Amino acid sequence: MAPNPAVEPYLLDVERRAAPPGGRRLADARVNTRVGRTGCRIVDLPRVADPRGNLTFIEGERHVPFPIARVYYLYDVPGGASRGGHAHRGLQQLIIAAAGSFDVVVDDGARQERFFLNRSYHGLLVPRLVWRELDNFSSGGVCLVLASEHYAEDDYYRDYATFKAAADAERLAGAA
Ligand code: TYD
Repeated sequence: MAPNPAVEPYLLDVERRAAPPGGRRLADARVNTRVGRTGCRIVDLPRVADPRGNLTFIEGERHVPFPIARVYYLYDVPGGASRGGHAHRGLQQLIIAAAGSFDVVVDDGARQERFFLNRSYHGLLVPRLVWRELDNFSSGGVCLVLASEHYAEDDYYRDYATFKAAADAERLAGAA
């Protein structure tokens, strides 16, 4: 099929973003950090600009490196509330500010960083074994999540110490 010229160019190979040759490091950028030090990274999603309203689309295994098994969203979040506070054993996800803005604080057990999401065409890709907390929701903020797995409570780490022990053990095993 011929490429649609209305679609802004975007990278098809999400994994290639992990190590762009001569790519920007975390220290080079603040809001639009591309690849963070926790393994999380911002994915630029396709945008179809239109005077009637813009459109963004996401295809599993194309714009995210996994088949999309589940979609959920957080909305009507009261000011000052915090969501998340867990990590996943196997699940990966893409987090998008579909409306408004919020912060995502991520922690791989050794390093932490904060991402500010305020564009519906940016997604934060969060790998497995990353603790996340979402806060600073703007009024009307909507957090859209595309997940690689169906909901399963036994995939969650809800206790930070247990998560950190698992992440540390995996890091040690990887370094050996
Ligand atoms: P949870 O993932 O703990 O949300 P947060 O970390 O943002 O507080 O989910 C809150 C509740 O919703 C929990 O009881 C499980 C339930 N839930 C589902 O049943 N299905 C889902 O897909 C999700 C994400 C949550």
